[in-house]
Parts: sequence; structure tokens; C-alpha cells
Amino acid sequence: MTIEPASFLAKMEKRISFTAEDKSILTSNADWGKGIASTMADHFYAYLGRDEEMDAILKAKEGRMHRLHETFIQWFSEMFTGVDNWGEKYANIRWHIGLVHVKIGIGPQHVVPAMAVVVHEVGKQLKSDSKSEELKDALGRICMIDLAFIEQAYVEVSSSAVLRETGWSEALFKRLIATGASSM
Ligand code: HEM
Repeated sequence: MTIEPASFLAKMEKRISFTAEDKSILTSNADWGKGIASTMADHFYAYLGRDEEMDAILKAKEGRMHRLHETFIQWFSEMFTGVDNWGEKYANIRWHIGLVHVKIGIGPQHVVPAMAVVVHEVGKQLKSDSKSEELKDALGRICMIDLAFIEQAYVEVSSSAVLRETGWSEALFKRLIATGASSM
């Protein structure tokens, strides 16, 4: 039950309608993205810091906050460049980011609101820099693709761990989930 990052990316692009035009708008605004990345990181970590649970995660390790500021800037900038034009490398990087969060115990309840903050803050910046609606839409779509990677990693890692520990088949596992959900 594990995904192949490049085909997951292709599937998400189709599902979210992330088009060649979106990619071209993003790449032509890559310098703007790079320029605002640090400010976006500030907004992002200020938001996480206001949440008791997430603040504790951020402060759990020496140097984590500093490292995170840098990795956020890189992540944010990569949404504009697509790294290898949204190819295999991009997909592998996004999958790895998902795995990092699962390992730390950061779940959907943390990640979804955090991505909403990115979309909101970047929306304000787009407005004040008089950027186009097309750029806003393209950014919204790539944010949702990146979010899907983190969320999917959570599901894949949890399911794989159960299957490995129990030796259950995937079909049995799915049946148990369906039965469990209907009794909730
Ligand atoms: C929009 C959602 C998020 C994005 C795009 C994001 C981005 C990233 C990136 C790029 C990394 C580096 C991964 C690597 O090492 O390859 C990372 C690591 C990490 N993130 Fe996030 N993150 C998000 C949400 C969160 C949330 C909600 C928390 C909660 C506190 C969080 C806490 C962490 C921590 C603790 C690490 C590991 C830092 C370390 O190296 O010790 N992230 N994140």
C-alpha cells in the first residue's frame, strides 16, 4: 500500500487541474516567489507558534526552528520552479516531506490549517503586489497538490505499518476499516 510519487503527482495534477499554463505562470513569477518566501515563513511559524501543541513540536529539538525557516523558504520557492518542471524529483521531494511529518506525529489536523494559512498569507501578498488572479489560482492548486502529498503519506505510512505488524492482507484491512467505520 505505498504510492509511487511521480504517478501520484500526475494523478493529482489531473484531479486538481494543474495545467501547463499554471506551470508557466508560476515559473515566470519565480523571482517574486523567492523574494517573499522569507516573509511567508515568518507568517507560517508565527501561526504555528500560537498553537500550544504545534509550538511544543517546534521547540522540541535544538535548532529546529532555524532549520525549519530555511526548509520552508526552499519548499515555498520550489512551488514556483517545479524543481525539474514538476517531474520525478519534485514528486520525490514532496513525498519525503510527507514522510518527515508522519514520523514526527504531525497529522491532518495540523497540516490542513497550516496550508490554509499559507494560501491566506500569499493571497494578501498577491493583492498588495497587484499580482494576477491566474497566479493566485495556480498557487492555490500547487499548494493543494503539496498538501495531498503530506496527507497521503499519513495514510500510506499508517496502513503499511498495520499491514506489516499484523500480516493482514490489504483486502482484509480495507474490510475491517469499512466495518469499523459503520459502527462509529
Ligand atoms: C503547509 C504545511 C507544511 C509544509 C509545507 C511544511 C514544510 C516542511 C518542510 C519542507 C520540512 C523539511 C522536510 C525535510 O527535512 O526534508 C518540514 C519539516 C518539519 N516540519 Fe513542516 N511543514 C508543514 C506543516 C507543519 C506543521 C503543521 C508542523 C507542526 C509543528 C510542522 C513541523 C515540522 C517539523 C517539526 C519538521 C522537522 C524539522 C527538523 O528537521 O527537525 N510542519 N516541514
